[in-house]
Amino acid sequence: MNSARERVEFLRREIARHNEAYYANDAPEIPDADYDALLVELRALESEHPELESEASATHQVGAGTTTVFSEVTHAQPMLSLDNVFDVVELGAWADRVARGLGEAPSSLAYAVEPKIDGLALSLRYVDGVLVQGATRGDGRVGEDVTDNVRTIKNLPQQLRGGHRGNVEVRGEVFIAKADFLSLNQQQREQGGKEFANPRNAAAGSLRQKDPAVSRTRPLSFLSYQLVDLDGSMQFENYYRTIEQLSKWGFFTAVETIVVTGTDAMIGRSSWFEEHRHDLSYEIDGVVIKLNDLDQRAALGFTSRAPRWAIARKLPPEERSTRLLAIEVSIGRTGRATPYAVLEPVVVAGSRVSMATLHNEDQVAQKDVRPGDLVIVRKAGDVIPEVVGAVPEPGKRRKPPWKFPTNCPECGAPLQRVGEESDTYCVNPACPAQLLQQIVHFASRGALDIEGLGESRVAQLLAAGLIRDVADLFTLKVSDLSPLEGLGELSGRALVDAITSARGAALSRVLVGLGIRHVGPVAARELARAFGTYDALASAPLEVLEALEGVGPVIAASVYDYCRDQENRERMARLDALGLTLREVREETSLEQTLAGRAVVVTGSLEGYSRDGAEEAIKERGGTSPGSVSKKTYCVVVGDAPGASKLTKAAELGVPMVPATDFGELLRTGTWNNTLS
Ligand code: IVH
Repeated sequence: MNSARERVEFLRREIARHNEAYYANDAPEIPDADYDALLVELRALESEHPELESEASATHQVGAGTTTVFSEVTHAQPMLSLDNVFDVVELGAWADRVARGLGEAPSSLAYAVEPKIDGLALSLRYVDGVLVQGATRGDGRVGEDVTDNVRTIKNLPQQLRGGHRGNVEVRGEVFIAKADFLSLNQQQREQGGKEFANPRNAAAGSLRQKDPAVSRTRPLSFLSYQLVDLDGSMQFENYYRTIEQLSKWGFFTAVETIVVTGTDAMIGRSSWFEEHRHDLSYEIDGVVIKLNDLDQRAALGFTSRAPRWAIARKLPPEERSTRLLAIEVSIGRTGRATPYAVLEPVVVAGSRVSMATLHNEDQVAQKDVRPGDLVIVRKAGDVIPEVVGAVPEPGKRRKPPWKFPTNCPECGAPLQRVGEESDTYCVNPACPAQLLQQIVHFASRGALDIEGLGESRVAQLLAAGLIRDVADLFTLKVSDLSPLEGLGELSGRALVDAITSARGAALSRVLVGLGIRHVGPVAARELARAFGTYDALASAPLEVLEALEGVGPVIAASVYDYCRDQENRERMARLDALGLTLREVREETSLEQTLAGRAVVVTGSLEGYSRDGAEEAIKERGGTSPGSVSKKTYCVVVGDAPGASKLTKAAELGVPMVPATDFGELLRTGTWNNTLS
């Protein structure tokens, strides 16, 4: 008994500490799954020992209270939390309890099954259709007034479309989409700012900025899932209809939400989310299951912290903790030395992870991870895994802080940090690791796309002395290759054929492959289209380069210098002599015609595409991209600063509006994950 009491007290203290770290400081110390485990244990102990129950226990509370930066808002109706289940057995048991409570057969109950977005809850007050207030959940009763920051969220209506008389609250989740999170952290890295541990923390930190101008620069989105009719003047047949109303008013809602009947279908649909969580553009940490019938909801009511008519099925975490075995450094094609973690293998987000990037010296110092530490590893979408930070292990002696090596692990030349940059470079132009990566990049999919020429093959060719530069690839003969290990006559020929056909690659691909600083695929296409041939590009005056759309002074200077460097001139002359086309040919399109015969209108700017670039990408997929919306329009892709008339027209005609983050998906598959409405 005593030990149960001690354990309960310990758990309550720990949970309170982690609540503070998570909600108030936006800086969690442990993965969500570890936190959930503490809560589950506490709940179990409390139900075994009712004498230890306390109203003040974390099991009765919703998140953390407020801080002092924002003024307080008392919620018109409390913002509750959800009870959790962790597997389908518990989920089935919950459904049985619900059915019993209602005196209905489990097979007759209709549920809405929807994603549990990993963000933070927000309540928006609209008076006569106009947004007047935005508040965080706080402790569920009193939240923080974040109205000014909320007004910077681009995908939520400042005014309800179609209008509404009276008072409503729209509740939902503020989040940062996976793609936006990656670019935000990239930007933080480039600007020497602090990287965010995960999209949720980034969203929370961004929403709770003192200065709305900072919030404005953060890619926040809002997804709504609850309509609170404060006047009680609206009539809805069921929950799903309320979601439809939100969507009509202009809110983003989850298109994946569907209503299913009976426990089996409900469990099945919840598992669908588990399977498809990586296909969603935002992170989810679970699935929310809600009774669809509003009368049934009223009959069941609430406990002190959560409704009885809804449940969250938590999904296995996208973050895992594992042991950091060592920190090593790899050398990239530009000579950049990137530290990475060698980990005890662990399965994160469905794949086995044994290495994770640590980005640069400052990141290692800031995260203070040391060999031997227990660390948290995360993966957002399909990206490279990264180490979030170390898990404190009280009482354990740690190794001293890791030191960045002073010499290149590949060639032994000194490593240097330049100026204010956080990156460290091997400055030896003859470093074999750089050469290897340059050639691998040249052959990679985004560049010359030479099949069969991956890192290990290139390493083998270099070691055999068959190549010393990208141009040497075009001199390879089958008889050179067939003696090499793992490369018989047949695969040797296949490789030579692949290299041969790469001679016809469009200039833009060659420009990407050369790895000219600051020249990515978008700039490469602009340059290639503007000049047509490498010769024309190489002789263009600096001012002409600078004047090109999408090519700023930095890219222009980099290209200008590249073309004038003696070594580069010799390489280009050789490539020319070896039969490379070096002109912007229109490549045979091998892209799947996902948009054949479909009209896709683009409004606003899409990251990574110029106006023409987006149009071209649609055409490459067999579609057209007219300048205006009609009832024949397949969908409207909505970028930054979209045109109001196109949006209005699309809404009038019921043409689906696709967020910019789904443009890639649209091109690849002809369909999309989320619809703006
Ligand atoms: S419904 C009374 N639906 O999860 C019902 N919540 O762990 C209140 N959340 O506080 C919530 N996605 O911040 C609901 N589709 C969804 C959700 C969702 C994420 C969050 C929300 C809530 C927390 C509970």
